[in-house]
Amino acid sequence: MTRRQPAFRVRKLRRLSRRPALAPAPPGTVSLAMGEPDFPTPPTVIRAAVDALREGRTHYADQKGLPELRTALAAGLPDRPGRTWSADDVLVTHGATAGLAAIVFAMVGTGDRVVIPGPAYSLYADLVTLAGGTVDFVPLAPDLHWDLDALAEALPGATMMIFSNPSNPTGIVHRRSELEALGKLLDGSDALVVSDEAYHRLVHPGNELTSALEVESLRDRTVYVQTFSKTYAMTGWRVGYLAGPRAAVDAAAHIHRTCNGSLNTAVQYAALAALDLPDSAVEAMAEKYRQRREMVIALLSDVPGLHLTAPEGAFYAFLRYDIGLPSETVAGELADRGVIVRAGAEYGPSGEGHLRISFAASEDALRLGLARLVRYFDEARP
Ligand SMILES: Cc1ncc(COP(=O)(O)O)c(C=O)c1O
Repeated sequence: MTRRQPAFRVRKLRRLSRRPALAPAPPGTVSLAMGEPDFPTPPTVIRAAVDALREGRTHYADQKGLPELRTALAAGLPDRPGRTWSADDVLVTHGATAGLAAIVFAMVGTGDRVVIPGPAYSLYADLVTLAGGTVDFVPLAPDLHWDLDALAEALPGATMMIFSNPSNPTGIVHRRSELEALGKLLDGSDALVVSDEAYHRLVHPGNELTSALEVESLRDRTVYVQTFSKTYAMTGWRVGYLAGPRAAVDAAAHIHRTCNGSLNTAVQYAALAALDLPDSAVEAMAEKYRQRREMVIALLSDVPGLHLTAPEGAFYAFLRYDIGLPSETVAGELADRGVIVRAGAEYGPSGEGHLRISFAASEDALRLGLARLVRYFDEARP
């Protein structure tokens, strides 16, 4: 047995990270914790992977991703007047996770400050920590949209800002006006914007998503992050991609090929098949999530002591509670009562006092899990 300690960065990550290791829910317990679509991957996607394997496409792929996949992805990127996207602007990655890691490691150095409006997807802070950067969490406004005054204070001198839109964990869709205001705040700086739009096809009625790539003042500084995981129920396939300024994408490609080599060849053919799915296949899943969202709103809106901001996109409900206990304690007590949710503290300091519920779970799981949650808060209140 070795006596050697893990490297300092592991010790630092263990000290600072609030991301739980994911484990299967124990029998009898309902999990509303995972951002994991409960739909099967569409059969034509599976067939494309099987066919690719049978046809002998079993060797290394281009390290930036199959050229035909990158060409198809480039053709589907949000438009930029005056500039067309090409395959060379796109890097196919091992899920959005590796795409995010590649861009952070490529562009954030020791001591660089990265602004993260929080609560935010907890991977961002962990990656910045691993890269040796400093995380500057900027609390959201009470309506969970950006606090532009706070951002105006934090952004000068920052190397990067990272956010998701629609947002995990808040379920908020940041509006075009917010993105335009961000562009103005960044005018004259060389900060990079990382816009993770993993939930772009899941926007709820009355809301509209503007990609950061569509905002003139942001488009030249934006690295767009995308994944097949959520839109096509392909979490286990591990395909994501990046697009953005060529120098940043090339630097990310260097990191990605160093850490991952090339991506599985057959899954890239599966990804190509996913791009050919009719809109109705994606819409059918989105419609189910919208129905579940209605159910969550109906079941949680009038519960004393709980405050729900209606989700605008993605499949998360972010709940504020007022029983005065830390969110990790509340999540632990809920798990003991048979429902697993995520503690808001995982998503940054301003996530404290909140819980995140995923409605990517089945209706039955949601009904049972939310009933257990409501009963817990009923009993916990004085
Ligand atoms: C906002 C956001 N970005 C990225 C990811 C990771 O996606 P992938 O499965 O492609 O690694 C997730 C997964 O939950 C997410 O919520």
